[in-house]
Amino acid sequence: MVEQLENLFTEFKQELEKVQEQAAILNLKSAFLGKKGKVSEVLKSLKDCTVEEKKLIGPKANEIKGSIINLINEKLSALEIEVINQKLAKNRIDITAQNRYFKSDLLAGGQHPVTAISDQVKDVFLSMGFEILDGPHIETEYNNFEALNIPDDHPARDMQDTFWFSDFKHLLRTHTSAVQVRGMKTHKPPFRFIAPGKVFRCERTDASHEMVFHQLEGMLIDKNISVGNLIYFMKQLLSSIFEKDVEVRLRPGFFPFVEPGFELDIKCLICKGKGCSVCKQTGWVELLPCGMVHPNVLRHGGIDPDEFNGFAFGLGLDRLVMMRFGIDDIRHLHGGDLRFMSQFSSL
Ligand code: DAH
Repeated sequence: MVEQLENLFTEFKQELEKVQEQAAILNLKSAFLGKKGKVSEVLKSLKDCTVEEKKLIGPKANEIKGSIINLINEKLSALEIEVINQKLAKNRIDITAQNRYFKSDLLAGGQHPVTAISDQVKDVFLSMGFEILDGPHIETEYNNFEALNIPDDHPARDMQDTFWFSDFKHLLRTHTSAVQVRGMKTHKPPFRFIAPGKVFRCERTDASHEMVFHQLEGMLIDKNISVGNLIYFMKQLLSSIFEKDVEVRLRPGFFPFVEPGFELDIKCLICKGKGCSVCKQTGWVELLPCGMVHPNVLRHGGIDPDEFNGFAFGLGLDRLVMMRFGIDDIRHLHGGDLRFMSQFSSL
């Protein structure tokens, strides 16, 4: 019987050589070790053996069963590894393959030019130690007008046609100057910050006016600040955006929240100063109104005007984008025409 078992084992090894698939291996296993398998068949006559014989056959049978199981498991795991290797070879990822989304005939997303320019301006001011503040689009009458030295009956309120809410206490902010008030309340001087964002005016649209547009407010408060400091910062800003010398002019401008106030204009880059619809035929574009913060505004912000002073400015981001890229109508910026937008997708 021992011999029979050894023969079976030899037979098993030969059979195992021949099979290559998982199912066939498992079939082979049950053909030898299953209830009705070959090994069990041989062991059926064990009951007729003497005790001495049983002592010999028992361990031998266990040894052979163990070896069969080991060989089966070895073969199965070798097979599994082979299957994985085959899959890897077949599904190799070609990391040099061209991404179909970047083929030139398909549109890729890109930054809006206003966002791109706004980021560029932010970088310039961050490098000069300014903080970036945010404010809500829905503002109080106090923050948008009153605290900025524009009382109820002031004609300057008419300058900015306002979208009011029905309570007539809230409005869509007409300028980012409202963030000045918030900034003064949360900061102790000296401080300097910028506040970019959307502003809203109830106006008729034309080549240089939109109802929703973008400004970037700036405020610097310290001791003994002069108009010279203001001009320095404005020049830094313009030269880093245009990367060339642009012709500018400074003229007096009236804004209730600054005194003195200025209009900083640049020579129109669309018509090179000849006169067009963007510069209203004047050859100059109002880009950067600014001035020295009015003492009343400082007081509203809880700052003592005898101790601190400073400057503020309100950059028109859409106009800056138009000058920078030679865009002749502000309405292109919000028109959603992909042929227009795709020109800026590399920004
Ligand atoms: N808020 C003004 C506007 O929207 C622009 C402005 C002018 C802002 C002078 C300023 C400033 O900070 O000093 O028309």
